[in-house]
Amino acid sequence: MKKLLRVLNGEALDVPPIWLMRQAGRYLPEYRETRTKAGSFLELCYTPELAEEVTLQPIRRFGFDAAILFADILLVPQALGMDLWFVEGEGPRLAWPGDDQNLGALRPVDEIDETLGPIYETVRRLSGSLPDDVTLIGFAGAPWTVATYMAAGRGTPDQGPARRWIYDNPSGFSHLIDILTEATIAYLCRQIEAGAEVVKLFDSWAGALTPEAFRRFSIDPARRIVQAIAARYPSVPVIGFPRAAGVMYEEFARTTGVRGVALDQQVPLDWAREALPGVALQGNLDPMLMVVGGDALKDAAKRIVGAMAGAPHIFNLGHGITPDASPEHVEQLLQAVRN
Ligand code: CP3
Repeated sequence: MKKLLRVLNGEALDVPPIWLMRQAGRYLPEYRETRTKAGSFLELCYTPELAEEVTLQPIRRFGFDAAILFADILLVPQALGMDLWFVEGEGPRLAWPGDDQNLGALRPVDEIDETLGPIYETVRRLSGSLPDDVTLIGFAGAPWTVATYMAAGRGTPDQGPARRWIYDNPSGFSHLIDILTEATIAYLCRQIEAGAEVVKLFDSWAGALTPEAFRRFSIDPARRIVQAIAARYPSVPVIGFPRAAGVMYEEFARTTGVRGVALDQQVPLDWAREALPGVALQGNLDPMLMVVGGDALKDAAKRIVGAMAGAPHIFNLGHGITPDASPEHVEQLLQAVRN
């Protein structure tokens, strides 16, 4: 069995499998070149040959143990009928069809495949072209995190509009989370049918929720998504990433049914090993070290490997690699983790 799948089945390996969040991205010159050829980030996402190419680039260059589908969490709200565009140097923008925040104007969940077909095609191509020992990871944004972008129409420092929506119109917000939960289940199942061997749920803004709201809008949807996938594809593990959830990581790991939990860089690994038994742990190097490199990087990487020795562990960053990171530092990291 492939290394990543062995770890997600509970095995502790002497050398942990390694991949990096956002491993295909702007820190790689070959990515920037393909992105220019595509014309825009969204064209890149929706052109299967090019999305396949950028997914493979970090595998060819570094020999990571896993490849993550090249796409974006915001393609799902786009498939539900929102306008999506990216402002150069700023980030995503989303606009509602018709009236402001009118859930009734969204397209039905069973129509998302009309938009997302090319993404499944990218997965199919990758499952044929990846080296035999590399695991293919599919993904989606978790409902809460996707909702934060839908509510604000863009990224925000504090997820204010979605947090406010929870109080202003609880039943409306719950309805939005239900729609996104159903869409996420459909989207991930299609990725699995196309060849994804693991799926990851990115709840990047989970840390903005109160404990009560975290249970309702992060844990409950994750549990429903995991159950729906387990019912149809029992051998496909789900990795959850409730970023910055703090002590709530424990309840997330215990009650959602995920087989892997991705940890951000604030989580102490000795605490996580004790508090999150029965799941594989992924993480949690500070992404800043990919900019810094050298001894600080190597020492921190070795500390993480040491702290996780004897436990099922997938080496990764605590969040995505940034555009100012250096490919040479990725080489240094692989050396430190593998030797
Ligand atoms: O390599 C990979 O990890 C696979 C592809 C991937 C992308 N986005 C490509 C991307 C994945 C898994 C994501 C997830 C994603 N997208 C998240 C969750 C993970 C996280 O980082 O917290 C979120 C919140 C988004 C939404 C998003 N997409 C934002 C806020 C931005 C703009 C900020 C930025 O980094 O520019 C994007 C754009 C984006 N998604 C880029 C890439 C490579 C950069 C776009 C470009 O090439 O111009």
